[in-house]
Amino acid sequence: MSKSYNIAVIPGDGTGPEVVAEGIKVMQAVSAHAGFSVNLNYMDIGGERYLRTGEVLPAGAVEDLRKFDAIYLGAIGHPDVKPGILEKGILLKLRFELDQYINLRPVKLYPGIDCPLKDKGPADIDFVVVRENTEGIYTGAGGFFKKGTPDEVAVQESINTRKGVERCIRFAFDYCMKRNKEKQLTLCGKTNVLTFAFDLWERAFNEVSKEYTDIKTDYAHVDAITMWFVKNPEWFDVIVTDNMFGDIITDLGAMIQGGMGIAAGGNINPEGVSMFEPIGGSAPKYKGKNMINPLAAICAAGIMLEHIGEEESGRKVEKAVMKVTGSHLKSLAAGKMGMTTTEVGDLVAKYVS
Ligand code: IPM
Ligand code: MN
Repeated sequence: MSKSYNIAVIPGDGTGPEVVAEGIKVMQAVSAHAGFSVNLNYMDIGGERYLRTGEVLPAGAVEDLRKFDAIYLGAIGHPDVKPGILEKGILLKLRFELDQYINLRPVKLYPGIDCPLKDKGPADIDFVVVRENTEGIYTGAGGFFKKGTPDEVAVQESINTRKGVERCIRFAFDYCMKRNKEKQLTLCGKTNVLTFAFDLWERAFNEVSKEYTDIKTDYAHVDAITMWFVKNPEWFDVIVTDNMFGDIITDLGAMIQGGMGIAAGGNINPEGVSMFEPIGGSAPKYKGKNMINPLAAICAAGIMLEHIGEEESGRKVEKAVMKVTGSHLKSLAAGKMGMTTTEVGDLVAKYVS
């Protein structure tokens, strides 16, 4: 019997369902050739459901999701819902509850894509950010004191546990070995100011590095790294950092690889269920127009295939995407691709077949 995988699909809001449909089209095309199948289980989670029912994450959803081989997510976010509700109630909640402690974000400039950096090409931009995904400022530790008065105090603390930091750093070293490119891992922090949090990070990094003598290690402050991303992106191979810094630098990373139309990532629990998503949001103004770029979602599907053990198919998806960016697309921007959303998906699906 051929192998089959159970995938939970959360199309979500805005253009999420449209881009997810293209990712699935590509997954089905590639799986048919590789001889495995994907069983899709659609879940109605997102802003639309929240507005309809008042429920953010339906009861039992987390437990249901644990049973799958992977989760494929479109986008969460709705213009009629106050910022923070869906982000915290769905996306962050899933990352935390499913202990997806790694946010893996490749930054790679594909052929044919306009890079905003002068004189930089695909040979210069190819690195991966390993972002810690369950701690730091994101834990919600802190609170208000005398809220709404002139004496108001707001505290939001960064929680860094030795266990959480170390498992993230260990993942980054292992990933760097497996990637086998420059074998160079950069810790991105702020040791000159955040002298508690990044002291812990730095000590853990240095200790773990002793077990990986093949890997060259390096350190960059977060402010400096934003400068190097623009000036010398070719210096980086794998970067490991905390949740907040990882959030910020990967948006910059997405821009130098061509924008949100192409940036994808995985929320990974190496011992549990992982969730793959395009990094861009729900782009409500393009909803239902067949104009949004589905490549980020298609790339997320490729990363998902690699993660569940179908490495060759994952690589095939990436190669097909590179063929499309290299010779067909006018631009990555919604409405300017020279093709519709579904046509882009059809083309990638043709190339993986
Ligand atoms: C991301 C997003 C999320 C984050 C938001 C939507 C909560 O910006 O995936 O990078 O901050 O992690
Ligand atoms: Mn972000």
